[in-house]
Amino acid sequence: MLTPDQAIQKVLIDQDAIQQRVAVLGEEISRDYAGLDQPLVLICILKGSFVFCADLMRQLTIPHEVHFMSVSSYNGGTSSSGEVKIEQDLDISIADRDVLIIEDIIDTGLTLDYLTHMFAERAPRSLALCTLLDKPEARQREVEVRYIGFSIDLEFVVGYGLDYDQQFRGLPYIAVLRPEVYQDQD
Ligand code: PRP
Repeated sequence: MLTPDQAIQKVLIDQDAIQQRVAVLGEEISRDYAGLDQPLVLICILKGSFVFCADLMRQLTIPHEVHFMSVSSYNGGTSSSGEVKIEQDLDISIADRDVLIIEDIIDTGLTLDYLTHMFAERAPRSLALCTLLDKPEARQREVEVRYIGFSIDLEFVVGYGLDYDQQFRGLPYIAVLRPEVYQDQD
C-alpha cells in the first residue's frame, strides 16, 4: 500500500482551481436549467463522481435532486475493459424529466456511450452530460458532452473521487500517478 507521496508524480489541478471551475459549472447549469417545472435530475455515476457531484450540487441555485447509479468498466486497472457493467441501476423513472449525468472522467467514452443510449430509451425530456475531466485523446466512442471541467492529457490521474485500485479518492486535488506504480501491477 503506497502513500500519496510515494504514488504521485505531480499535482495536476489543485484544490482552488477545482473549486473555482466547479463554481463556474454550477452557475452555467443553474442558468441553463432555470425555470423548469420539475427539479433537475442529477445522476451521479458511482463511485468516482461522488466528490464532484457533492461539490457541484452545492453550487446549483435551481431545484434539483440527486440519484445514484453504480457502473464499472475498469476492474481496478488503468485501462478500460471495454465492458460496462451496471452494478446498481436507478430507483426512479426519468421519463419526461430533465436529466444531467454527472461523471468524474470521460476516457474512452465507452461508459457514457452505453449510458446515454440506455437512458435515452427511458424517454427523458432532456439528457445531457457533465464531466469534471475529459481525456479527448483516449476517445473510442464519440459522446456529446455539454459541460466539461478540464481537458487533460493521457496521463493516469487520481484524487477528488478518482482512484487507483480504490486508493486516493479522498485527495482534495487531481494528481498524476507515477507510471511505475501501475506498470508494476498491470
Ligand atoms: C471511470 C469513470 C467513468 C469511466 C470512464 O469509472 O468514473 O465512469 O471510468 O471511462 P471510459 O470513458 O473509458 O468508459 P471506473 O470504472 O473507474 O469506476 P469508479 O468510478 O467506480 O472508480
